[in-house]
Amino acid sequence: MKRVSRMVTIAKSLTSTIKLNNGNDMPMFGLGMWQANSGSNGPAEKAVVYALQNGYKMIDTATLYGNQSDVGEGLRKSGVKREDVFLVTKLWTNGYESCRDEFMSSLKQLDSGYIDLYLIHSPSGGQVLESYKAMMEFQQQGLVRSIGVSNFGVQHLEGMKKAGVPTPTVNQIELHPWMKRTELVSYCRDNGIAVMGYSPLVKAERLKDPTIVSVAKKVGKTVGQVLIRYSVQMGYITIPKSEKPARIIENSQVFDWSIPEEEMATLNSLPETSCTWNPALSAWEG
Ligand SMILES: NC(=O)c1ccc[n+]([C@@H]2O[C@H](COP(=O)([O-])OP(=O)(O)OC[C@H]3O[C@@H](n4cnc5c(N)ncnc54)[C@H](OP(=O)(O)O)[C@@H]3O)[C@@H](O)[C@H]2O)c1
Repeated sequence: MKRVSRMVTIAKSLTSTIKLNNGNDMPMFGLGMWQANSGSNGPAEKAVVYALQNGYKMIDTATLYGNQSDVGEGLRKSGVKREDVFLVTKLWTNGYESCRDEFMSSLKQLDSGYIDLYLIHSPSGGQVLESYKAMMEFQQQGLVRSIGVSNFGVQHLEGMKKAGVPTPTVNQIELHPWMKRTELVSYCRDNGIAVMGYSPLVKAERLKDPTIVSVAKKVGKTVGQVLIRYSVQMGYITIPKSEKPARIIENSQVFDWSIPEEEMATLNSLPETSCTWNPALSAWEG
C-alpha cells in the first residue's frame, strides 16, 4: 500500500481542534467517563459540570458506562451552550435494529437533539456493517454529526474499506507509553482516520513506574500530567478521566510546557503492554 504522508496535528491548548475527514472540527482534549459514578447530583454529573465550567470542550461516554443521563444533566447544569460542547457516545450492541434502539435511547439520556460523534464501541460480535448502516442513516437525518469506531484493528478497517462504506472519521483505541500501536496508528493516519487515545493515564495503575516518575521530576510536573502531555505530543486526541475537581484541572494543564525529545524517546522505548481489553486483535466478522 502506498503511504500518504500526513501532518500530525498537535493540540496547542484545551480548545484545539482537529479537522475530521468529513470536514467537521473535533476537540483534541476532553473528559473520559468510564467508571464515573452515576446518580443524581453524583460524581459523574458533578465532574461534567466542573470540567465544562473550566474549559473542557468534549465529554466521552458510552451506553456501557451507564452515565449518559448524568452527562446530559451535567451539561444542562453547567450553563455551557450545547453547541459549545462535543458529545461522544458509543454503541454497545450489534446490528441494524439494535443500533436504532440504542442510539435513540442515548439521545434521550443525553437530552440532546444530536450527538457529535457516535462510535461502534468494539468490532467484537460482528454485524459492524449493519450497525454502520443505521449510523449512516442517523447522520443523514442530522441526528449525529460524525460516525466512527473504537477498538478497531487494521483488519477491521480494511474490511470496512473493502465493503465500500465511508471511512470512519475516528478510531478510539488504547494509547499511552506502553501502547504505542505504531502500525495501527500509521494505518489510521495514512487513511485519514483521526486517532483518539483512551486510558492515557494507564488507568492510574503505573503511576509509580520509575521511568515516568523520573521524567516527571525532570520536567517538574506530576506523573499524571507527564502521561497526558505524552499523548498530546504524540498527536492523539485524548480523554483522561477524573471525578476529582483538583485532578480535572491538573490534567488540563498540559499545554504550556513540553517533554523534551530525549525523554519522549525514553517513554517510547517502554515495552508494549495493554492495561485493559484489546478487541482490536479479534477477527473481522463483517
Ligand atoms: N473505547 C473504549 O473501549 C475505552 C476503554 C477505556 C476507556 N475509554 C475512555 O477513555 C477514558 C479514559 O480512560 P480510563 O478511564 O480507562 O483511564 P485513565 O484516564 O487512564 O485513568 C483514569 C484513572 O486515573 C485516575 N486519575 C485521574 N487523574 C489523575 C491524576 N492526575 N493523578 C492520578 N490519578 C488520576 C482516575 O481516578 P479519579 O477519577 O478518582 O481521579 C481514574 O482512576 C475513559 O474514561 C473512557 O471515556 C474508552
